[in-house]
Amino acid sequence: MTTKDVLILGIETSCDETAAAIVKNGRQVLSNQIFSQIDIHKVYGGVVPEIASRSHIEKVSGVVRQALIEANVTAEKLDAVAVTNAPGLVGALLVGVSFAKALAYALNKPLVAVNHIEAHICGNYISSNLAPPFVCLVVSGGHTHLVYVEDYGVYTVLGKTRDDAAGEAFDKVARALGLGYPGGVEIEKLAKSGNPHAVNFPRASLEEGSLDFSFSGIKSAVLNYLNSTAMSGLEVNKANIAASFQYAVVGVLVKKAVDACIRNNCTVLALAGGVACNNALRNAIEKACGENGIQYIVPKPVFCTDNAAMVASNGYYTYLKGEFANLLLNAHPNMGNYSELN
Ligand code: KG4
Ligand code: ZN
Repeated sequence: MTTKDVLILGIETSCDETAAAIVKNGRQVLSNQIFSQIDIHKVYGGVVPEIASRSHIEKVSGVVRQALIEANVTAEKLDAVAVTNAPGLVGALLVGVSFAKALAYALNKPLVAVNHIEAHICGNYISSNLAPPFVCLVVSGGHTHLVYVEDYGVYTVLGKTRDDAAGEAFDKVARALGLGYPGGVEIEKLAKSGNPHAVNFPRASLEEGSLDFSFSGIKSAVLNYLNSTAMSGLEVNKANIAASFQYAVVGVLVKKAVDACIRNNCTVLALAGGVACNNALRNAIEKACGENGIQYIVPKPVFCTDNAAMVASNGYYTYLKGEFANLLLNAHPNMGNYSELN
């Protein structure tokens, strides 16, 4: 007996990417369309929520149409429509949610609600055979979470940031250094020509054994360093600052992620979120995992930053459980379907 393939359309509009993708059986990406608003927001140095919503409205139907064309699939062949409804910019989320509701209704297909952080974790299922249990370090612009993935859709948060997210710290430090947006990419580029040991930026010392993070201290230390250097009339070596900042952040992330695996007797560590594109982080985690007998997995960069393939993959596992949303589905800036992952 052959089991029928399941085709899920994923739609993602939680921040500054309008994305749609079609994924077969949760793992095989048939199409992955992303319209990035980076060029639109760049001039403001960060995402402007109202502009993001308007751009999503303009782009969403074209992006979905392109995803169907790229996959060579007609809408009638879809098994369900999955959409990110939390967390994120509420006006931006609403565009995707409204579009997905209308489409699911018109096609008479099930609608599946997806939590954005959970979707980032599911980015690891794409083109891989990873299966729970595993520990996942989620590092994005808005969140930094260490999550124990016990089963599909079953999560325990082991630690999270108490202030800034890792990506947020990258973006704020980049801004202070006069670099472009998004800051993480620019810091990584500049750090290549800097000395990571030039400045010893302090790492937050939380209680012994805590798997929580705090990045506002490192960020403030960089800002203070920049101010005092400027006041002394000295020239700032931006590459050294970028490299030293990146080194400090990566050091904390790697240590806590490996500790989380060891403490939970878990031999698989996955990475997720936009900051997971960072090669210094990828290399350091790979090395630490090798030293501790932990298998390491990370999605291709395009599935680390915001995309809809991860939404469709997540939607597949929710679809298999028969957990469908109805037309009352709303967008939530914080409270998600999985409130722990906020
Ligand atoms: O997951 P994501 O695309 O969106 C959110 O859900 O927030 O993550 C965006 C974040 C931004 O803060 C961006 O600066 C950061 O990911 N980022 C990076 C790199 N590429 C993107 N941070 C460090 N190094 C990178 N190469
Ligand atoms: Zn994201």
